[in-house]
Amino acid sequence: GDIAQLTPPWPYHQEFYGSDDLVSFCVHELETTIERIGPGRIAAMFGEPVMGVAGMVPPPDDYWPRMTQVLKEHDILFVADEVVTAFGRVGAWYGSSHYGIEPDIIACAKGIASGYMPIGALIIRSEVADVLEGDYSGGSYGGHAVSCAVAKACIDIIERENLLQNARERGLQFLQELQPLLDLPVVGDIHGLGLAIGVELVSDKVTRAPLPLDDPTLVARFREDTGVIFGLHGNTLVLTPPLVISPEEVSRTVEAVGSVAERLSTDGAYHR
Ligand SMILES: Cc1ncc(COP(=O)(O)O)c(C=O)c1O
Repeated sequence: GDIAQLTPPWPYHQEFYGSDDLVSFCVHELETTIERIGPGRIAAMFGEPVMGVAGMVPPPDDYWPRMTQVLKEHDILFVADEVVTAFGRVGAWYGSSHYGIEPDIIACAKGIASGYMPIGALIIRSEVADVLEGDYSGGSYGGHAVSCAVAKACIDIIERENLLQNARERGLQFLQELQPLLDLPVVGDIHGLGLAIGVELVSDKVTRAPLPLDDPTLVARFREDTGVIFGLHGNTLVLTPPLVISPEEVSRTVEAVGSVAERLSTDGAYHR
């Protein structure tokens, strides 16, 4: 096909990398993939700074700096999909700024207007943007004034209320308070960055096999039993609360995660 996929940087799943170190494996795989296809035939690499749909999985700190260094050496563009991670979700304006990298293009949406209005944006490095100039294909709602006004107001509030710091502090509180749940038989891993947190549920802690959670009514049942709305991405419970969440609300959410995890058995059955 026209797209080559790379192994995801997923620290809990060491089985993806055999006996290699995760980052060395991924960097080597990128280098050999570029060699196989030919750098002149690769338009760009796309990646999420923190993998969202996989269940809010942050890579090791040196993953993005080393991967983007290889891309730069081969003159290949890097496009950061920050639809989930930008505008405070991970405790920084961008996931890229957290990891200290400068993508050529950043795609963002959701958090710009805190979800209140539909709006998305591309942030493009000037050398790349210059090439596109004059060839812009707009859309019916491009530059929508109300969406832009709401986005501006949200960005002002994130600054004024210091919400990047709140996302960082409450995120650390989440990780700390969730930690004891690792003693439960179905809780395999707890990971996250800022207020993008995942609790990966497994049926076997040795093989890290996913807990089978295919009942589509589960999220509704979790909500009825705990009063908390969870995301469920595959076998990962996902927590992406508002950036204004308080310390008390964090503790109450952790309690809800605990009560859900306690009611799940290793065959995936949920006992009410
Ligand atoms: C990582 C990521 N990229 C992009 C998108 C945007 O997709 P769409 O434009 O289809 O809403 C989403 C939506 O959830 C997403 O999670």
